[in-house]
Amino acid sequence: MRKIYLDNAATTPLHPEVIDEMTECMKNTYGNPSSTHVFGREAKARMEISRKKIAEALGVNSSEIVFTSCGTESNNLIIRSCVDYLGVKRIITSDLEHKCVKETTAEMGACREVEVLKVKTDKKGSVDYEDFEKKLKSSKEKTLVTLMHANNEIGNLLDIEKIQSLCEETGALFHTDTVQTLGHYPVNLAELKVDFASCSAHKIHGPKGIGFAYIKKSTGLKPQITGGGQERGLRSGTENVYGVVGLAKAFEMAILDLDKNKKQIEELKKYTIEKLQESIPGVGFNGLSGDLEKSLYTVLNIRLPFKDPLIGFELELKGIAVSQGSACSSGASKVSAVIESILSPEQIESTTPLRVSFSAYNTKEDIDGLVGVLKNISQKHLVAH
Ligand SMILES: Cc1ncc(COP(=O)(O)O)c(C=O)c1O
Repeated sequence: MRKIYLDNAATTPLHPEVIDEMTECMKNTYGNPSSTHVFGREAKARMEISRKKIAEALGVNSSEIVFTSCGTESNNLIIRSCVDYLGVKRIITSDLEHKCVKETTAEMGACREVEVLKVKTDKKGSVDYEDFEKKLKSSKEKTLVTLMHANNEIGNLLDIEKIQSLCEETGALFHTDTVQTLGHYPVNLAELKVDFASCSAHKIHGPKGIGFAYIKKSTGLKPQITGGGQERGLRSGTENVYGVVGLAKAFEMAILDLDKNKKQIEELKKYTIEKLQESIPGVGFNGLSGDLEKSLYTVLNIRLPFKDPLIGFELELKGIAVSQGSACSSGASKVSAVIESILSPEQIESTTPLRVSFSAYNTKEDIDGLVGVLKNISQKHLVAH
């Protein structure tokens, strides 16, 4: 059976050049970057060359890129350290953030006497900018704003410039989770003037277990992991040199092929929407994901016009991997918090969400395979009712 992978927002296959670069590094560069002998210096040099490549692509200084183990760690480092060391007493965030932001901000509220305010979002999952401004300006307490650049489930894109200029006006710190956008969009962090951002290599055809936090020099953040003082004191622990080299290669390839990949994936997303609309009467799209301008070109959250909690299994039997955006417990699937907050109870009862996420490795044949199976499933439901 031909397997079809359409879960690229969860993780992506490695780019062949990433594998080559990492393999070469594993064979030849095994020194500890903190050692002063030639083996260590070689490893250190590869780390710093990698850091410089990434920093240049983002228009920032090398010293502002701190390597971590993943997007989750980067977001934790930033949020926790803002509270512990920068005097943050208020956090403005939303209900649609990734769990690593949502749970961390909730903990800051529960254990560190930080006021956590949730900005209103509408039925499409968009931030209510007026409510944001009102909340931001309602207090003079030191505030951290943490709002994701793009939502990993429904693809909604945030107006970063708007949020940033309000943060600048009020002196609030601004963190944006850019795990789903860095490497997919031509982001210049210096021009965006955000204080903090995060990246994860495995979302851009790089290896798992490596990411980075962008920490603007002037913010003065302190570490959460202490010890040997690596990463200019911001994240101790012997560095994952192979991972860093793989991340830099993945980033380089992503930027090099950005326009080509974006065009190809956008066409694929458009094709998927059209094919679904042709084949499944009443199909819809959750959040802004059906709007090509306002959502990630890599994510489409399909709203099937029938309830089928077992759809993930049915697709899996046909070799198709997608995400239900759902937590599975005791065999019964439950809709995710994001879907729950944007759909009405009637919609939750009568529809099935399905997240399809694309990469440049997908083809129209993959989409034909997916739509063919979904069409059969939907016809079964029509007959049953
Ligand atoms: C928006 C967003 N933030 C953070 C993360 C966490 O990244 P990682 O898997 O590298 O910990 C993810 C991964 O799903 C994500 O999509």
